[in-house]
Amino acid sequence: MLSLLQPCAVRALRPHVTPIVARSFNASALMRDDSKKTTHFGYRTVQEDAKRTLVKGVFSSIASSYDMMNDAMSLGIHRLWKNRFVEMLNPRGGIACLDVAGGTGDIALRLLDHARTKHADRETSVTVLDINAQMLTEGQKRVKDTMYWNTPQVKFQLGNAEDLNTPMLVPEHKNPPASTLRNPILPPLVSEPIPDNSKDLYTIAFGIRNVTHIDRAIKEAYRVLKPGGIFACLEFGKVSVPLLTEMYKRYSFSVIPALGQLLVGDRDSYQYLVESIERFPTQAEFAALVADAGFLLPGSAEAQSMGLPTLSSAGAWEDLTLGVATIWTGVKPFA
Ligand SMILES: C[S@@+](CC[C@H](N)C(=O)[O-])C[C@H]1O[C@@H](n2cnc3c(N)ncnc32)[C@H](O)[C@@H]1O
Repeated sequence: MLSLLQPCAVRALRPHVTPIVARSFNASALMRDDSKKTTHFGYRTVQEDAKRTLVKGVFSSIASSYDMMNDAMSLGIHRLWKNRFVEMLNPRGGIACLDVAGGTGDIALRLLDHARTKHADRETSVTVLDINAQMLTEGQKRVKDTMYWNTPQVKFQLGNAEDLNTPMLVPEHKNPPASTLRNPILPPLVSEPIPDNSKDLYTIAFGIRNVTHIDRAIKEAYRVLKPGGIFACLEFGKVSVPLLTEMYKRYSFSVIPALGQLLVGDRDSYQYLVESIERFPTQAEFAALVADAGFLLPGSAEAQSMGLPTLSSAGAWEDLTLGVATIWTGVKPFA
């Protein structure tokens, strides 16, 4: 149903927080046994409890090849999408950013570079948060070679997008016996609660489709953002040209797992990645989830007056490369 909605119709769905709380309060839900609930892991149906472990397994397995595979699979186009994402957000003015599912730090580095090169801003800071220690370690290795290393501008933190208030158990940290270029000595990861109303910008790029409860992740974004703070998500969308939809699907399902097998000997992880893209909500459905969490969507005069960056489309999201990727934003209203 929701997929039939146009961006402007989704804007009209924007609710206030109170009705959502009322709607989601359901006494029988409180009595449900959560351990019996199922969800999808790509095309497989799995117990909710199991999904987090399975997703963790995928990213542990691909962490060291993640950046190279991103270039190979997208022919480098993911860089253009990420550049557009960050340029549109235009970080500046010493803001506090949280990059959730930040992995190897691709978005964090772009945010910091943009603030520095476009606005001479060395105060803006980014916390890179991810559920996977291996991905964060790859990120640390990358950032180690930049001017941001050992400065308050960047911090790596273990955490779950669905519950940013509960620290995770940090795995035992093993530095290599001798520091090498590929395996340098790195500081141990930390995991700390992210307080309410503490961040100016929340970003999540190609991460939210991996979480078990997307709605919970967006609600957490709402909690940690200051009033006036901005939520921004970059994720695979649905291709908007029907003729190309089938071609894109064929490319994804035949080429990507094969590339995974060929380049890094791991077909299964890449099979999961393409299946998870297929299972992700449509652009309109996801925009409705952002609105449901309480955010004001782009396009409304109110959101604009609060400084929500303007998208190139008139609607609640911006499609990139005909919807292969999509940007959604929202602004947290003042009380
Ligand atoms: C496809 S990578 C994206 C990395 C990075 N944002 C980028 O654009 O290159 C997805 C990331 O989401 C992380 N992730 C999956 N589930 C998560 C969760 N519940 N909380 C935090 N991170 C999660 C994975 O560990 C992985 O690093």
